[in-house]
Amino acid sequence: MGDRVKGKVALVTGGASGIGRGCAEKLAAEGAFVVVTDIQDALGQEVVAGIQKAGGKAEYVRQDVTQEDVWADVVAGIKSRHGRLDILVNNAGIGIGGSILDMTLEAWRRQTAINLDGVFLGVKHSIPLMRTSGDGGSIVNISSVAGLKGSANLAGYCATKGGVRLFTKAVALECANAKDGIRVNSVHPGLIETPIWLTVQEALTPGANAPPDLDAMSAMAVPLGVKGLPEDIANGVLWLSSDEARYVTGMEMVIDGGLMLR
Ligand code: NAI
Repeated sequence: MGDRVKGKVALVTGGASGIGRGCAEKLAAEGAFVVVTDIQDALGQEVVAGIQKAGGKAEYVRQDVTQEDVWADVVAGIKSRHGRLDILVNNAGIGIGGSILDMTLEAWRRQTAINLDGVFLGVKHSIPLMRTSGDGGSIVNISSVAGLKGSANLAGYCATKGGVRLFTKAVALECANAKDGIRVNSVHPGLIETPIWLTVQEALTPGANAPPDLDAMSAMAVPLGVKGLPEDIANGVLWLSSDEARYVTGMEMVIDGGLMLR
């Protein structure tokens, strides 16, 4: 167990799977109390059990990030149980692929509700508690390389992730102006092996019913030649969450094996 975020209380949305899970485990391994939230209850509880078994501190709370009243309850619960919130990782997200001509308004709105509304609500409801915690705070919004450049068949997803990128910078300035000590940054993962690729692939190639070959894709597209793992993103999130990044706000942290270089 390390102590890079010792004594801090962290909330990780979408923490039951993939990158969120990696972030929850990493923050707990470095001494934070981690509130893992998701809509996949069994998996979320598994993540918490694993953290506790490893000697870390965590709890699972069910949370649909699109619901404002749920956000209010989750933050109120953290305030009453822990008295503070130091780290918010807005990670929950989905990817809906396919031609924009085939995208229904319902699907567009569902993706935007999770990927963008969820980030807005998290920021809005967490900042007041962070401000009363006394030591500032760190908000990390998970965007994507798809928030930095366009990607065919992912236009709706790109729109949400580009929105997260600029929303992050605007809130970073607002917090800096308020001198509340809260830093706000975005993280832009490249090709990371997680279950999200199952759903994206189903939309891109209906019936494929299998994740794309990330090894082959990475060999072609990623300068470093290999796919990323949730831990690669978690390492960046840990640093942004820790006091080591005390002078860093409004930054785009790209973790992509060089994908954006081409
Ligand atoms: P994942 O599918 O493994 O995890 C996403 C989690 O979010 C799941 O546990 C899911 O249950 C949860 N979630 C979905 N809707 C929710 C809702 N309404 N309320 C609460 N939780 C909800 O996918 P992954 O890859 O770990 O994705 C995490 C974040 O990383 C997402 O924002 C995604 O867009 C982003 N990302 C992922 C990349 C990749 O290559 N895997 C690349 C760039 C960004």
